[in-house]
Amino acid sequence: MKTILTGIRVNSEPTLGNFLGAMLPMVRIANKHSLDHHVNIFIPDLHSIISEVDGDFQKNLINSIKIYLAAGLKINENVHVYRQSYVPAHSEMCWILNCIANMGEMSRMTQFKDKSEGKSSVNVGIFDYPVLMAADILLYSANYVPVGEDQFQHLELTRNLAMRFNHKFGEILTVPEKTEEQVKFMETGEPIRIRDLSNPTKKMSKSAIGENSKILLNDTPEKAAKKIMSATTDSLAKIQYDMFNQPGISNLLQIDALINNQPLQEVIATWQGETHYGDLKKRVATSVSTFLTHFQESISAISDDMVYELFETGEEYANEVANKKLLEVQKAFSLR
Ligand code: TYM
Repeated sequence: MKTILTGIRVNSEPTLGNFLGAMLPMVRIANKHSLDHHVNIFIPDLHSIISEVDGDFQKNLINSIKIYLAAGLKINENVHVYRQSYVPAHSEMCWILNCIANMGEMSRMTQFKDKSEGKSSVNVGIFDYPVLMAADILLYSANYVPVGEDQFQHLELTRNLAMRFNHKFGEILTVPEKTEEQVKFMETGEPIRIRDLSNPTKKMSKSAIGENSKILLNDTPEKAAKKIMSATTDSLAKIQYDMFNQPGISNLLQIDALINNQPLQEVIATWQGETHYGDLKKRVATSVSTFLTHFQESISAISDDMVYELFETGEEYANEVANKKLLEVQKAFSLR
C-alpha cells in the first residue's frame, strides 16, 4: 500500500495559507485515497523548536489536529496521526542522513536563507531543518507528500538524499514522487502559494508582522472579512489570473476557488472581463467569513480526548514502521 504523508508546524495558529495550501488539500486527498493508502498526518514538534515556542504550544498542537478533523478528515485504520518527538527514530534518521547531505546543497535552501537573513546568530536547527524533514518522509517510505510550493525545494532534497543513499547501499529507501507528480496528485491545478494580503509578492506567513497581512483560522469572521477588503491589489483595473503582474488579484481568485472547492479556471472564467476590484473583494470576504463561521463551530465541538486517542494508536503504528526502516538504514551503515 502506498503512503501519503504530511506535517504542519504548530508554533502559532495556522494561517489561511497553511490551511488552503496544505491542510485542506491533504484532507481531500486523504478522504479520497485512505481505503487503499496509508495516510500519515503528523506534528513536526521538533521542527517547531527552531524558533521559540510559547506556553500555548500544546494547545496549538491539539488544535491543529482538530483543524484536520473539522475540515472533514475521515478516520479509518489507515489514517495515522502522531507527534514527531514521540517517535525517536526521526532524530536518529536525521543524524544518519546528515552524514550523506552536503554543505553545498544545504546552503542553497531558500527557506534557510530567508530565515537567517540579517540575523547575527542563527541556530543549527534552522540549517538542518530540511534533513529532519527528509527523515520524516523516508522513514515511512512516503510516495506522496502534499505540501505548499514553499516546501518543494525540501522535497527535492529528500529525493536526492534517498537516491544518493540507494546508489550507495541498494534500494532501501523509497524515493518520493517528483514535484510535478505531487501537484497532479493534489489535484489543485497548480502549486499553491497563498500570498501575504498586504504584500502579495510574498507568501502569507505565520511570522508576518503586519496585522492585515495574514488571516488566522481563529480570526473572527468580521476581522477576516475586513482584512480581505483591505488587501493590496493594483491599478490595472482588470480581473485576471496573472500571479506575476497581478499577484494581489490572482491571490484573491485562488483563495475563492480553494475555499469553495471550485476549479480555479471556473472562478477565473466567472470574473472574465470584470473590472471592479471591490466586487471581487466582497465576494472573497463573504466566502472567507462564511467558511470561518462554520469552521470555528466545528472545531469547538471536537474534544481534546478524541485527539489524544488518535495520538495513542498513531504513535504505536509510527514507532513500529519507523523503527523497522531505521534498522535497515543502520545495518546499511554497519551500525547494527
Ligand atoms: P509549515 O508549518 O511551515 O507549513 C505547513 C504547510 O503549509 C504550507 N504553507 C503554505 N501553502 C500555501 N501558501 C502559503 N502561504 C503557505 N504557508 C505555508 C507549507 O508548504 C506546508 O505544506 N516543513 C514543513 C513541515 C514538515 C513537513 C515534514 C511537511 C516537517 N516535516 C514532512 C511534510 C513532510 C512546513 O513547512 O511546515
